[in-house]
Amino acid sequence: VYNAVCHTCHTAGLLGSPIFGDTGAWGPRIAKGKDTLYTHAINGFNAMPAKGGADIPDEEVQNAVDYMVAEAS
Ligand code: HEC
Repeated sequence: VYNAVCHTCHTAGLLGSPIFGDTGAWGPRIAKGKDTLYTHAINGFNAMPAKGGADIPDEEVQNAVDYMVAEAS
């Protein structure tokens, strides 16, 4: 899911998105708690589109969040 959907923005930091693997960009976001990140990823948050703009189950979005958070911790 990351490579198919989230990669477009989060690999390059498009629209000001936190870059994959960038601990500095992710630290303050991770500090908000994973439940908040799940909610923001599923429902959208500023320029972050709901589910990255894809029609996928919530669980797959959560898995992608887990993957991104693990790479940045
Ligand atoms: C169209 C570009 C785009 C796509 C596609 C995208 N994101 Fe984002 N994402 C953003 C932007 C921009 C932000 C920063 C929003 C802000 O902080 O204002 C962001 C922020 C986030 C955050 C942090 C939210 C927070 O509370 O700080 C998470 C988690 C996230 N994205 C997960 C994902 C996941 C998972 C996917 C794939 C399913 C995805 N994103 C796809 C643009 C995108």
